[in-house]
Amino acid sequence: MNNFNQILPKELNQNPFSMFHNDWALVTAGTIDNYNTMTVSWGGVGILWNKDVATIYIRPQRYTYEFIEKNDLFTISILPEEYKNALTFCGKFSGRDYDKAKETGISPIEADGLVTFNEARLVLVCKKLYHSDINPEHFYDNEIEKHYPLKDYHRMYIGEIVTAYNK
Ligand SMILES: Cc1cc2nc3c(=O)[nH]c(=O)nc-3n(C[C@H](O)[C@H](O)[C@H](O)COP(=O)(O)O)c2cc1C
Repeated sequence: MNNFNQILPKELNQNPFSMFHNDWALVTAGTIDNYNTMTVSWGGVGILWNKDVATIYIRPQRYTYEFIEKNDLFTISILPEEYKNALTFCGKFSGRDYDKAKETGISPIEADGLVTFNEARLVLVCKKLYHSDINPEHFYDNEIEKHYPLKDYHRMYIGEIVTAYNK
Protein backbone atom coordinates (compact mmCIF):
# COMPACT_ATOMS: atom_id res chain seq x y z
CA MET A 1 0.00 0.00 0.00
CA ASN A 2 3.06 2.26 -0.35
CA ASN A 3 1.56 4.38 -3.09
CA PHE A 4 -1.76 4.90 -1.26
CA ASN A 5 -2.76 7.52 1.31
CA GLN A 6 -4.94 6.55 4.19
CA ILE A 7 -7.95 8.88 4.43
CA LEU A 8 -11.08 9.23 6.54
CA PRO A 9 -14.36 8.35 4.83
CA LYS A 10 -15.50 11.96 5.23
CA GLU A 11 -12.47 13.07 3.21
CA LEU A 12 -13.75 11.22 0.13
CA ASN A 13 -14.07 13.72 -2.67
CA GLN A 14 -15.93 11.38 -4.91
CA ASN A 15 -19.42 11.54 -6.36
CA PRO A 16 -21.17 8.53 -4.79
CA PHE A 17 -23.20 7.97 -7.94
CA SER A 18 -20.34 7.89 -10.42
CA MET A 19 -18.23 5.92 -7.95
CA PHE A 20 -20.21 2.74 -8.54
CA HIS A 21 -22.13 3.33 -11.69
CA ASN A 22 -19.69 5.03 -14.04
CA ASP A 23 -16.43 3.68 -12.73
CA TRP A 24 -17.41 0.21 -11.52
CA ALA A 25 -15.66 -1.42 -8.60
CA LEU A 26 -14.19 -4.70 -7.49
CA VAL A 27 -15.51 -6.34 -4.35
CA THR A 28 -12.89 -8.64 -2.89
CA ALA A 29 -12.91 -10.91 0.14
CA GLY A 30 -10.42 -13.38 1.59
CA THR A 31 -6.70 -13.29 2.16
CA ILE A 32 -3.91 -12.78 -0.36
CA ASP A 33 -3.45 -16.57 -0.49
CA ASN A 34 -7.12 -17.35 -0.88
CA TYR A 35 -9.39 -14.59 -2.14
CA ASN A 36 -11.90 -13.87 -4.85
CA THR A 37 -12.93 -10.67 -6.58
CA MET A 38 -15.82 -9.59 -8.79
CA THR A 39 -17.06 -6.47 -10.51
CA VAL A 40 -19.98 -4.57 -9.01
CA SER A 41 -21.81 -1.49 -10.19
CA TRP A 42 -24.67 -1.46 -7.73
CA GLY A 43 -23.93 -0.10 -4.29
CA GLY A 44 -23.63 3.02 -2.27
CA VAL A 45 -22.08 4.86 0.63
CA GLY A 46 -23.74 6.74 3.47
CA ILE A 47 -24.45 6.83 7.17
CA LEU A 48 -26.26 4.22 9.24
CA TRP A 49 -26.28 3.61 12.99
CA ASN A 50 -24.02 6.71 13.17
CA LYS A 51 -21.37 4.87 11.22
CA ASP A 52 -19.86 5.46 7.77
CA VAL A 53 -21.15 2.58 5.70
CA ALA A 54 -20.95 1.07 2.23
CA THR A 55 -23.68 -1.17 0.83
CA ILE A 56 -23.20 -3.85 -1.82
CA TYR A 57 -25.60 -6.33 -3.44
CA ILE A 58 -24.31 -9.80 -4.25
CA ARG A 59 -26.25 -12.60 -5.94
CA PRO A 60 -25.95 -15.92 -4.13
CA GLN A 61 -24.43 -17.86 -7.03
CA ARG A 62 -21.33 -15.65 -7.17
CA TYR A 63 -18.12 -17.34 -6.01
CA THR A 64 -17.29 -14.08 -4.23
CA TYR A 65 -20.45 -14.53 -2.16
CA GLU A 66 -18.84 -17.56 -0.49
CA PHE A 67 -15.81 -15.46 0.44
CA ILE A 68 -17.90 -12.61 1.80
CA GLU A 69 -19.95 -15.07 3.84
CA LYS A 70 -16.83 -16.66 5.34
CA ASN A 71 -14.99 -13.44 6.15
CA ASP A 72 -15.76 -10.51 8.44
CA LEU A 73 -14.34 -7.88 6.12
CA PHE A 74 -14.23 -7.09 2.42
CA THR A 75 -12.75 -4.38 0.23
CA ILE A 76 -14.35 -2.20 -2.41
CA SER A 77 -11.72 -1.05 -4.91
CA ILE A 78 -12.48 1.58 -7.54
CA LEU A 79 -10.24 1.30 -10.58
CA PRO A 80 -9.68 4.04 -13.18
CA GLU A 81 -11.51 3.83 -16.48
CA GLU A 82 -8.49 2.38 -18.30
CA TYR A 83 -9.09 -0.91 -16.48
CA LYS A 84 -12.61 -1.36 -17.81
CA ASN A 85 -11.53 -4.37 -19.87
CA ALA A 86 -10.15 -6.02 -16.74
CA LEU A 87 -13.33 -5.22 -14.84
CA THR A 88 -15.44 -6.55 -17.69
CA PHE A 89 -13.56 -9.85 -17.40
CA CYS A 90 -13.96 -9.91 -13.62
CA GLY A 91 -17.67 -9.26 -14.11
CA LYS A 92 -18.18 -11.95 -16.73
CA PHE A 93 -16.13 -14.91 -15.59
CA SER A 94 -15.99 -16.69 -12.28
CA GLY A 95 -13.04 -17.17 -9.99
CA ARG A 96 -14.18 -20.79 -9.91
CA ASP A 97 -12.85 -21.09 -13.48
CA TYR A 98 -10.16 -18.42 -13.84
CA ASP A 99 -7.41 -16.67 -11.93
CA LYS A 100 -8.79 -13.22 -12.65
CA ALA A 101 -5.62 -11.32 -11.72
CA LYS A 102 -3.53 -13.51 -14.01
CA GLU A 103 -5.99 -13.22 -16.89
CA THR A 104 -6.36 -9.44 -16.67
CA GLY A 105 -2.92 -8.37 -15.41
CA ILE A 106 -4.24 -6.52 -12.36
CA SER A 107 -2.01 -6.87 -9.27
CA PRO A 108 -3.48 -8.07 -5.98
CA ILE A 109 -1.90 -6.46 -2.91
CA GLU A 110 -2.45 -6.87 0.79
CA ALA A 111 -4.25 -4.13 2.73
CA ASP A 112 -4.87 -4.58 6.45
CA GLY A 113 -4.77 -8.37 5.98
CA LEU A 114 -7.27 -8.08 3.12
CA VAL A 115 -6.85 -7.84 -0.62
CA THR A 116 -7.12 -4.90 -3.00
CA PHE A 117 -5.38 -4.05 -6.27
CA ASN A 118 -2.40 -1.87 -7.00
CA GLU A 119 -4.32 -0.28 -9.87
CA ALA A 120 -7.11 1.00 -7.57
CA ARG A 121 -7.49 4.74 -7.15
CA LEU A 122 -9.78 4.38 -4.14
CA VAL A 123 -10.16 1.54 -1.65
CA LEU A 124 -12.82 1.16 1.05
CA VAL A 125 -12.08 -1.42 3.73
CA CYS A 126 -15.43 -2.61 5.08
CA LYS A 127 -16.43 -4.66 8.10
CA LYS A 128 -19.71 -6.53 7.76
CA LEU A 129 -22.42 -5.06 9.98
CA TYR A 130 -25.58 -6.51 8.52
CA HIS A 131 -27.03 -8.52 5.67
CA SER A 132 -30.52 -8.96 4.31
CA ASP A 133 -31.83 -10.81 1.26
CA ILE A 134 -33.91 -8.83 -1.21
CA ASN A 135 -37.49 -9.92 -0.71
CA PRO A 136 -39.66 -9.63 -3.86
CA GLU A 137 -42.78 -9.35 -1.70
CA HIS A 138 -41.48 -5.94 -0.67
CA PHE A 139 -41.11 -4.50 -4.18
CA TYR A 140 -43.27 -1.38 -4.61
CA ASP A 141 -42.50 -1.33 -8.33
CA ASN A 142 -43.17 -4.52 -10.32
CA GLU A 143 -40.57 -3.42 -12.84
CA ILE A 144 -37.84 -4.43 -10.39
CA GLU A 145 -38.69 -8.10 -10.83
CA LYS A 146 -37.31 -7.96 -14.40
CA HIS A 147 -33.83 -7.97 -12.88
CA TYR A 148 -34.50 -11.43 -11.44
CA PRO A 149 -35.55 -13.91 -14.16
CA LEU A 150 -33.67 -16.57 -12.16
CA LYS A 151 -35.18 -15.45 -8.84
CA ASP A 152 -31.61 -15.00 -7.62
CA TYR A 153 -32.33 -12.10 -5.33
CA HIS A 154 -29.28 -10.22 -4.11
CA ARG A 155 -27.99 -10.40 -0.62
CA MET A 156 -27.41 -6.86 0.60
CA TYR A 157 -24.39 -6.38 2.81
CA ILE A 158 -23.93 -3.23 4.82
CA GLY A 159 -20.32 -2.76 5.85
CA GLU A 160 -18.79 -0.19 8.15
CA ILE A 161 -16.04 1.66 6.30
CA VAL A 162 -13.21 1.14 8.77
CA THR A 163 -10.45 2.57 6.57
CA ALA A 164 -10.16 4.18 3.18
CA TYR A 165 -7.20 4.73 0.88
CA ASN A 166 -6.74 6.88 -2.18
CA LYS A 167 -3.84 7.98 -4.37
C1 LIG B 1 -20.49 -3.84 -14.75
C2 LIG B 1 -20.87 -5.03 -13.95
C3 LIG B 1 -21.49 -4.87 -12.72
C4 LIG B 1 -21.87 -5.96 -11.94
N1 LIG B 1 -22.46 -5.74 -10.73
C5 LIG B 1 -22.83 -6.81 -9.97
C6 LIG B 1 -23.42 -6.59 -8.68
O1 LIG B 1 -23.56 -5.45 -8.19
N2 LIG B 1 -23.82 -7.70 -7.98
C7 LIG B 1 -23.67 -8.98 -8.46
O2 LIG B 1 -24.04 -9.95 -7.78
N3 LIG B 1 -23.08 -9.20 -9.68
C8 LIG B 1 -22.65 -8.14 -10.43
N4 LIG B 1 -22.03 -8.35 -11.63
C9 LIG B 1 -21.79 -9.74 -12.10
C10 LIG B 1 -20.55 -10.40 -11.45
O3 LIG B 1 -19.45 -9.51 -11.44
C11 LIG B 1 -20.17 -11.65 -12.27
O4 LIG B 1 -21.23 -12.59 -12.20
C12 LIG B 1 -18.86 -12.28 -11.87
O5 LIG B 1 -18.45 -13.12 -12.91
C13 LIG B 1 -18.92 -13.06 -10.55
O6 LIG B 1 -17.66 -13.62 -10.34
P1 LIG B 1 -17.37 -14.74 -9.22
O7 LIG B 1 -18.21 -15.96 -9.55
O8 LIG B 1 -15.89 -15.00 -9.39
O9 LIG B 1 -17.71 -14.14 -7.91
C14 LIG B 1 -21.64 -7.27 -12.42
C15 LIG B 1 -21.01 -7.46 -13.67
C16 LIG B 1 -20.62 -6.35 -14.42
C17 LIG B 1 -19.94 -6.57 -15.74
